[in-house]
Amino acid sequence: MGMPAGTGLDPDDDVAVVDQGFRAGMSSGPEARKTAGEPFTENPRMKCRKVNVFYGDKHAIIDVSIDIGRNQVLSMIGPSGCGKSTFLRCLNRMNDTIEGCRVTGTIKLDEMDIYGREVDVVPLRAQIGMVFQKPNPFPKSVFDNVAYGPKIHGLARNRSELEEIVETSLRRAGLWKEVKDRLSQPGTGLSGGQQQRLCIARAIAVTPEVILMDEPCSALDPIATAKIEDLIDELRERFTIVIVTHSMQQASRVSQRTAYFHLGNLIEVGPTEFVFTTPRHRLTEDYITGRFG
Ligand SMILES: Nc1ncnc2c1ncn2[C@@H]1O[C@H](COP(=O)(O)OP(=O)(O)O)[C@@H](O)[C@H]1O
Ligand SMILES: [Mg+2]
Repeated sequence: MGMPAGTGLDPDDDVAVVDQGFRAGMSSGPEARKTAGEPFTENPRMKCRKVNVFYGDKHAIIDVSIDIGRNQVLSMIGPSGCGKSTFLRCLNRMNDTIEGCRVTGTIKLDEMDIYGREVDVVPLRAQIGMVFQKPNPFPKSVFDNVAYGPKIHGLARNRSELEEIVETSLRRAGLWKEVKDRLSQPGTGLSGGQQQRLCIARAIAVTPEVILMDEPCSALDPIATAKIEDLIDELRERFTIVIVTHSMQQASRVSQRTAYFHLGNLIEVGPTEFVFTTPRHRLTEDYITGRFG
């Protein structure tokens, strides 16, 4: 297809990139020209600029620049292996834990450079929480799963404050009614969907600003999935959410913005309905029409 080495992209595929970013003075330069659609937003919660990720010699994320809008759900879609999880893990420095993984570029949460020298990753990962594909409750009681974070971060002064945080978090995760009479039972004894909501409650308990979710429903049945999707929609009132999903239906149900990745490149970002109905880039179109992936 005549792709230049290294980018995986044919420059002829690029359409005029929206210049909101330039107008707002947020970014300029060739990196912004690579992504079709609207990578930048007004008053974003997070700003990512020229992010690259390497696993040893492998260049897994290539010059990605994108804003993450406040109190919105951004979904990240694309074929398997295109870098969605890798990019998501950049957002709370989870890649730091992977041997041989190197991240360059800038990522800010509001004005804080999250890769700054002075940043302590423990509180950072509370501020930017994460929910994984497979529910992973601690081998502890339902109560302790949720209480653990507030305890280690010193968010409660006494037992009754701790109980209040646990109850509020479980309510916000839509789980309170189902577990209020079994708080002392093991979290691992809940159903898969309940476990995932428990993990969401655990993330919420430390009052994050952003919640990252990596295919949070892929191990769940359709009913449990629908509950999590409803929950995501409620949570965006308080939190900013980034969700990786392999389901285009899910992306269109839960997200306001969608980002399409291909071979480590961010091909296109825009309002979800536009990305799915009038994609600007041929690669996005190929993917959403099922010609690829
Ligand atoms: N820990 C790792 N070590 C080496 N390569 C990795 C690692 N994690 C992911 N990769 C590679 O990076 C690329 C992107 O992977 P990933 O972010 O998991 O994609 P996705 O989530 O879109 O399926 C793939 O080529 C994958 O093989
Ligand atoms: Mg993945």
